[in-house]
Amino acid sequence: MSILDSRITRRRFIQSAGGLALAASPFATTHVFAQGAPLRVGLMLPYTGTFASLGNAITNAFKLYVAENGGKLAGRTIEYVVLDDESDPAKAVDNASRLVNRDKVDVLVGTVHSGVQMGMVKVSRESGVLSIIPNAGAGAATGPLCAPNIFRTSFTNWQTIHALGKVMVERGHKTAAWISWKYAAGEEMFGGFKEGYEKAGGKIVKELWLPFPNVEFQALLTEIAAARPSATACFFAGGGAVKFVKDYDAAGLKAKIPLFGNGFLTDGTLQAQGAAAQGVYTTLHYADSLDLERDREFRLNYAKTYKLQPDVYAVQGYDAAQLLHIGLKAVKGDVKATKAMIAAMEGVTIDSPRGKWKMSRSHNPIQDSYLRQVVGEQNKYVSVAWKALEDPARGCRMA
Ligand code: PHB
Repeated sequence: MSILDSRITRRRFIQSAGGLALAASPFATTHVFAQGAPLRVGLMLPYTGTFASLGNAITNAFKLYVAENGGKLAGRTIEYVVLDDESDPAKAVDNASRLVNRDKVDVLVGTVHSGVQMGMVKVSRESGVLSIIPNAGAGAATGPLCAPNIFRTSFTNWQTIHALGKVMVERGHKTAAWISWKYAAGEEMFGGFKEGYEKAGGKIVKELWLPFPNVEFQALLTEIAAARPSATACFFAGGGAVKFVKDYDAAGLKAKIPLFGNGFLTDGTLQAQGAAAQGVYTTLHYADSLDLERDREFRLNYAKTYKLQPDVYAVQGYDAAQLLHIGLKAVKGDVKATKAMIAAMEGVTIDSPRGKWKMSRSHNPIQDSYLRQVVGEQNKYVSVAWKALEDPARGCRMA
């Protein structure tokens, strides 16, 4: 299987950056650092279910960065141990433990779903394995449960939606309905939205929830119509976002009660959403038309390699590989020199396709939140909705 082929044919398997399927490496079971020995990266991500496209985008872009560097980071060939976490929190601790204890990964990269992330954080804290979160926004991971060995290249849930309330009020929408999946990410995003919206003078007149990953929206759409808010704000992503945007439009709501959200609503989904998504405004730390050389180069290479347009998830996966590279370079590939590696990754500035961002003290990006609007198959950049937005990281005490 090619290194750039992210299709999962078995639930778990080992891949080397050279494309060879390997048996367990002898280097993985000893802690002796041998220059040139493969470095094992555990990719724990969703490859099935509503977030499958998110896991694939992260995997693609992580591998793209490694491939751009000749398949090696700081002299170490990268070997992947890939695991489908199915966005199932109940399996998270077992899955992450297996990667660390049985597969002896040197670095854990994952995941997408905040509930699964909490299980991974537990394993990371207990084992001390270096961990990079390429999506899941669970506040605790860089808040009360922050740790020296846990880094994030994506966002906190709060960060993705903090600016949205101000944007909506500025556009004259002083009352809103909220709708999302009822799980950690949806709840934290609701908290972030409510805080920003109420501060800007908005009022939430209806709260609607459904269990993750349900997509039976009809009854709830009827409730939105009956509540007659000025606008709707929401969090959905992946397959669920495709269906929600289409159902919202088909119910005749879009023209009467404009739809807003954080940008997951329309990122990586526009081809499938088509006309239903046109004109929708969202906030996020990436957009499709940023005037940045780094972004142009990334988008070109990604499109050439995968015959697909990249999205925010791809950017976060790419930056996870960039961050790992910075750490490894500082220790000449000796991933066991954990302290020196962590020191190099702290306070770093990442030259990202989203624009340069700085790692906060709690190990989370400090980044601009962009206002975007859907035009055709692009989330077009409109303006910077919030400059250098930093999560407050309440409760984070780095040991
Ligand atoms: C999350 O569960 O943290 C999550 C999932 C999908 C997204 C964003 C956040 O697009």
